[in-house]
Amino acid sequence: MAGSEFETGSRSVSQQALTDESVAVTAGRSPSAHHGTVNPPVYHASTILMDSYAALRDAHKIRPGDGITYGVHGTPGTYAFEEAVAALEGGYRTRLCSSGLTAVTGPLLSYLSAGDHLLMVDSVYGPTRRFCEGTLRRMGIETTYYDPLIGEGIAALIRPNTRVIFLESPGSWTFEVQDIPAIVAVAQEAGIWTMIDNTWASPLYFKPFAHGVDVSIQAATKYIAGHSDLVMGAVTTSERAYPLLQKGWMELGLCASPDDVYLAMRGLRTIAPRLRQHWANGLAVADWLTRQPEVVDLLHPAHPDDPGHALWSRDFLGACGLFAFTLHPSVSSDAHLSAFLDQMALFGMGYSWGGFESLLLPTDPASIRSAVRWPRAGRAEGKVMRIHIGLEGLDDLLLDLDRGFARLRAV
Ligand SMILES: Cc1ncc(COP(=O)(O)O)c(C=O)c1O
Repeated sequence: MAGSEFETGSRSVSQQALTDESVAVTAGRSPSAHHGTVNPPVYHASTILMDSYAALRDAHKIRPGDGITYGVHGTPGTYAFEEAVAALEGGYRTRLCSSGLTAVTGPLLSYLSAGDHLLMVDSVYGPTRRFCEGTLRRMGIETTYYDPLIGEGIAALIRPNTRVIFLESPGSWTFEVQDIPAIVAVAQEAGIWTMIDNTWASPLYFKPFAHGVDVSIQAATKYIAGHSDLVMGAVTTSERAYPLLQKGWMELGLCASPDDVYLAMRGLRTIAPRLRQHWANGLAVADWLTRQPEVVDLLHPAHPDDPGHALWSRDFLGACGLFAFTLHPSVSSDAHLSAFLDQMALFGMGYSWGGFESLLLPTDPASIRSAVRWPRAGRAEGKVMRIHIGLEGLDDLLLDLDRGFARLRAV
């Protein structure tokens, strides 16, 4: 919780004065409750034994998140991690679930009802779209996809039954930056909830609640955990939005495994220096890519050439290591891609991102767009390659890419 107290050794300190680096290292710590251990212990728990009949009788009055009543509702370890994520996001409270995708579907199910209308950004993570077209449609909830660059123009899409506007900025395939303050202003005027998938920026580099967003979603699988060894979701809300989320969590039975929570907390402690390196090396690689003749477009909002750079500079505090570049159509065949990708030494091919390892993935944004075709005006035709810059040495990564481009040219 923003501004709450935490312990460092035997002293209690207010978080308000601290930088994100310090909050990431300290939030959720309570050594005095755990024999001085710095890390909260792991409680493997389903049953929580009550002290007395009176305690049992009153347990149902305790709001999950406020007390230890049952493993699904939370343990001291999960609450500690929730407190740390909420502090970094700048929100009221956080609840956990078993994957980033559940952190998307849980809030949508918690805030939407049959007959409601959802405005969904067209550049959204593919499985989020699949959920809208599948489960939400089946439940009688209609989704309209909107141009990520729509800004205040979103007002024209609002209907009397529009209940949620969902944002993801930048989108994790095409990296278009949304005008979040403009969209939030329209939503607030119309009394509509706003939710953002904030995974790209992480809780460090975009502060949703300072911009008036109601619900912030993190695939903790990515930078929070940071080590490609678990899947988890974390949803943080404003105080006003919390009761609906909490009700949904109770009804849906969403929770995360205590061992994974422990690992995610361990990851969170080092998120600030990790992100700084992902950001710096990512930009250096992006710059290098712009000098390759086969690269016809760079999709990286922290790069000055990107059309979203001005919005990114205005609203974001940093960039992660995930971006994309487009290969000229003449070098986008399967043979070219095999030559480029198959013998990479450091760049792996695989889904996900946010871990310590570098990744390269050919994508097909055109296949999942419906409001605005891809490539949109001003962006180049060709194969869009998503790249994640991990924590390896920059020179090693550039050499690996350089050799890849040499193989591509030789086809
Ligand atoms: C932007 C974004 N949101 C959510 C998710 C879902 O996370 P998970 O894989 O933990 O379900 C992903 C996964 O790739 C993602 O890229």
